[in-house]
Amino acid sequence: MIDRLRSHIENIKEKGNYRFLRYIKPISSTRIVYNSKEYLNLCSNSYLSLHNHPEVIKAAKEATDIYGAGICSSRSISGSIDLYKELERETAEYKSYEKALIFSNGYLANIGIISTLTEKDDVIFSDELNHSSLIHSIRLSRAKKIIYKHRDINDLEEKIKKEKKRKGNLFVVTETVFSMDGDVAPLKEIYELKKKYDVNVIVDDAHGTGVFGETGTGIEEMLGLKGLMDVHMATFGKAIGSYGAFVLSNETVIEYLINRAKTFMYTTALPPAAIGASLKALHIIKNDLSYRKDLWNNIDYFRKKLIEAGFDLKDSIGPIIPIVVGDDRDAVTMQEELFKKGIFIQAIRPPTVPAGTSRLRLTIVRDLTKDDIDYAVSSIVEAGKKVHIL
Ligand SMILES: Cc1ncc(COP(=O)(O)O)c(C=O)c1O
Repeated sequence: MIDRLRSHIENIKEKGNYRFLRYIKPISSTRIVYNSKEYLNLCSNSYLSLHNHPEVIKAAKEATDIYGAGICSSRSISGSIDLYKELERETAEYKSYEKALIFSNGYLANIGIISTLTEKDDVIFSDELNHSSLIHSIRLSRAKKIIYKHRDINDLEEKIKKEKKRKGNLFVVTETVFSMDGDVAPLKEIYELKKKYDVNVIVDDAHGTGVFGETGTGIEEMLGLKGLMDVHMATFGKAIGSYGAFVLSNETVIEYLINRAKTFMYTTALPPAAIGASLKALHIIKNDLSYRKDLWNNIDYFRKKLIEAGFDLKDSIGPIIPIVVGDDRDAVTMQEELFKKGIFIQAIRPPTVPAGTSRLRLTIVRDLTKDDIDYAVSSIVEAGKKVHIL
């Protein structure tokens, strides 16, 4: 086995696709220290900068004091502490669904939903750029899998038409905001297909939650579809600044998941600190819309500056910005150039994104200052010139 693995690793290196870990120390919501040098972090998903908000940290500490550092049991055994009940009620209400169920993270939640709710005679239609957790969940399902072109509603409808006489159920699975491209699924049109062909829609709003919509509840709110999907998954580990994930649906779906979803049943419950922090962050987001407003001021300013500098931001509309370089090595060169300038950003390469579309994935958070953004843009421009994308 070792020889085989060495050969795979050499292959990865030759392609310029090798990964290693940089162990860092965060020192504020936007700064980290690596090898004794300070960097501006441009790849955090803590869009609202709540992960180190004093009240959120205090809530995490209080939950630890009361419940302990870990739960040390699965939720089905003795892990369902009362804080879960409160958070499940609040998330369901926040996004206008009947019922919520908290999983230990988004990857496990997606596997739980898709592999449990779909069966042998069913068909799953999946956007070609769906997140790895969705792709792997679909592989674990016994249903037939059909990939449709990215955000292409006509392709999806054509594919649904061919399968609509099947005896099983039909499911469309999509991210709301695509995590590597920052663009948005055509959810209104997908909802029309749902009504027309009786398909079930499962959405992953990991990157929409807390960011999009008038009150920040996510993409469904932005598109006037709040609470209308069959199953909605979102995470606490991005704008909410904590850890874990929640699945929203009706009473029956949640009851069934509690009884059959293996990734819910056979894994240890979340540490109380994560649940306490999520609850507090959710209260902050609900009660003070200024967090979302400040984030959007940064998003609008950063995007305007990059566009003025000549970058093509593709169809992205929010805090995720893909700076597509193309070649894997060029993407790494650009990353390293920025690193020299004190900017921490990651080159995203295959298999995370399709071959030939390697990129820098830049994320904008609320705590970035105007000076941070100006410095970041001028550095990205210089690095972009080095690899001739400008
Ligand atoms: C779209 C999407 N879905 C699911 C996940 C997985 O969530 P978690 O990190 O909580 O496992 C992620 C990223 O982490 C994601 O970007």
